[in-house]
Amino acid sequence: MILVLLGPPGAGKGTQCKRIIEKYELVHLSSGDLLRSQRAAGTELGKKAQEYMDSGQLVPDRVIIDMMAGAIASAGGNCVLDGFPRTVVQAQELDKELTGKGQKIDAVVNLVVDDAVVEGRMTGRRSCPACGAVYHIDTLKPKAEGFCDKCPKQELVQRPDDKPEVVKQRLVTYHQQTSAVVGYYSKSGQKVLDINADGPIDDITAEIFAKLDSLAAAG
Ligand code: AP5
Ligand code: MG
Repeated sequence: MILVLLGPPGAGKGTQCKRIIEKYELVHLSSGDLLRSQRAAGTELGKKAQEYMDSGQLVPDRVIIDMMAGAIASAGGNCVLDGFPRTVVQAQELDKELTGKGQKIDAVVNLVVDDAVVEGRMTGRRSCPACGAVYHIDTLKPKAEGFCDKCPKQELVQRPDDKPEVVKQRLVTYHQQTSAVVGYYSKSGQKVLDINADGPIDDITAEIFAKLDSLAAAG
């Protein structure tokens, strides 16, 4: 099964993906996480991506498409795509790539939430640099303030692109370049499952599971 999870920055894509992969036994492929690993490893790709990411711009399509095509192939066609595709060009290239391999997207899940809500989520987000676990200073606190629950003595950090001014630019980038991807999928006849992503994390998960299960039951 191949799922695409769309939504603005801070919509909760990563948070919901962690739950989706457990229930449906999928590999989580987050383009942002893959880019951050490349940066941490100091690769050429990571160096190329850094400036774009830290200023809230998109990394060039070709770089992303090549990186994600490799990751999807490694996942053997059983994955949830988080943060990709993020432009219509990326969506078209993904379609070509999958068609060439006799694969297809099974569902597109679209997290719908206002900018004002996601701004607060991003500026309050803290992550563990060791295991990638994500917390929030108000809504998802770790047991010991500032430290990861799973990695003892590991201090949580703020992502460089979660500074308020970069968050604002990421939202502008989303509305200018990424929101059109939803329309692309609707027009191409792909089933798009709109989810109200303004509410408790568990309620959002329940709505995603219910819609995916009824889509599967409908065949
Ligand atoms: P990426 O890492 O993909 O960032 P993003 O899309 O901006 O999304 P986020 O990871 O910030 O948010 P999320 O939706 O995963 O929310 P989360 O679950 O963490 O991309 C980063 C950069 O990489 C881009 O700006 C770009 O430069 C580059 N890039 C990546 N992909 C690319 C592509 N395809 N093309 C070109 N460039 C690309 O939740 C956020 C916070 O809210 C957390 O603290 C969480 O605990 C909290 N939270 C979650 N849900 C709720 C809830 N329901 N209620 C309250 N709090 C909640
Ligand atoms: Mg994320």
